[in-house]
Amino acid sequence: MDKLVVEGGKTLSGSLRISGSKNACLPILAASLLSEGSSCIRNVPELKDVSTMASIFSSLGRKVDLSGDVFTVGEGELTNMMASYELVSTMRASVVVLGPILAKYGEAKVSFPGGCVIGARPIDLHLKGLRALGADIKIEGGYIVAKAKKLKGTKIYLGGHFGSSVLATANTLMTAVLADGETVIEDAACEPEVEDLCGFLMAMGADIKGAGTPTVRVRGVKELRGADYSVIPDRIEAGTYMIAAMITGGKLFLENARVEHNLALIDKLKEAGGTVDEKENGVEVYRKGAIHAVDITTLTYPGFSTDLQAQMMSLSTICDGISVITEKIFPDRFIHISELNRMGAEIILEGSTAIIKGVKKLSGAPVMASDLRASAALVLAGLVADGRTEISRIYHLDRGYEHLEDKLSAVGAKVWRVKE
Ligand code: EPZ
Repeated sequence: MDKLVVEGGKTLSGSLRISGSKNACLPILAASLLSEGSSCIRNVPELKDVSTMASIFSSLGRKVDLSGDVFTVGEGELTNMMASYELVSTMRASVVVLGPILAKYGEAKVSFPGGCVIGARPIDLHLKGLRALGADIKIEGGYIVAKAKKLKGTKIYLGGHFGSSVLATANTLMTAVLADGETVIEDAACEPEVEDLCGFLMAMGADIKGAGTPTVRVRGVKELRGADYSVIPDRIEAGTYMIAAMITGGKLFLENARVEHNLALIDKLKEAGGTVDEKENGVEVYRKGAIHAVDITTLTYPGFSTDLQAQMMSLSTICDGISVITEKIFPDRFIHISELNRMGAEIILEGSTAIIKGVKKLSGAPVMASDLRASAALVLAGLVADGRTEISRIYHLDRGYEHLEDKLSAVGAKVWRVKE
């Protein structure tokens, strides 16, 4: 397993380009299965999760070509309606092939994705959406087996215990686009990734109103065509590098980053003492003085994203004062705390709230990545720690950050990969 080594203490400065969004492109790739026509999806990041999706397509009998940032889905029908445990268990997001396969072929069998280190991650809302549209769903041998002779539009309230669900909204939308009549999804997720999925579906010929709002109306169409589409920039990657500029006291220009996708983070970075300027094709972030403590509660969009909670915690470890971070989306998403404390941070956890007492310095240490965003948090901590931080299990990072060490090195960080 590869390791990442970070020598702390370098101030980052320069420009780096934000890649296409992982969490937008995965459902968009799945949506391409709604048509037998060829689709061309652009600005796709080079990530393990994308190559896992390509493997799922191949296992379903659909030809794909992945070259540079262009993912081309070849013409043709699926020859297999089953996504196996071997593939789905490596990437939870693969459950989004369920809706499109069911909608197009009337049957689908997809491995139950199970939990992961950030929490239980149920899929009851996905199943609720599909059942409301007329699907008959059973769980058999660890698989979701869905069948539908006819899918029919209806009103669906999709809010859950923790608010709206991004991928349940995506799955329900992708099933509704080919259903008979009108579907109204209430408490739909408003994340830009869902809006982008709607953009792609509309480019395929879907009739959708209210994309990016809590009420989405879909009028079913008979068939969809392949489309040529470019994915939005990755707001979580952008947010991670905004925090990198802040934590090192440097100045970064993030090409392609969009202010409107990161309003909650930017608000907190300014409160913490940072400057964030919107430029023509990106965002510039820097800090001159000390980092002030800020309190954060993660929420659904446009609230503070859970996918930036761990990174923001790294920033809080070296701030003036005490910060309070409450996790309202995945209450157990705190495995990074013990690793940050190994680096000299002072964090205690009370239920789903972390209390972080700022320290003067972190010190480099061997640490272990536990999930994608926690890994990024450890890299950020390593950038300011005294000495060397060795992060193991970085396959988590490779699932979601395109060329992270190259991008950071290009703006002055001392970070490299050790192959093992
Ligand atoms: C998406 O996951 C993202 N993944 C996650 O990013 C992100 O953390 C999450 O949305 C929240 O923003 C992708 O887009 C591929 P949810 P998703 O359903 O859709 C509960 C990353 O690091 N829930 O919006 O699976 C759930 O337990 C990843 O890039 C149900 O109760 O998350 C959570 O508390 C990690 N029942 C809340 O809803 C369900 O059926 C929101 O989760 C589904 C979800």
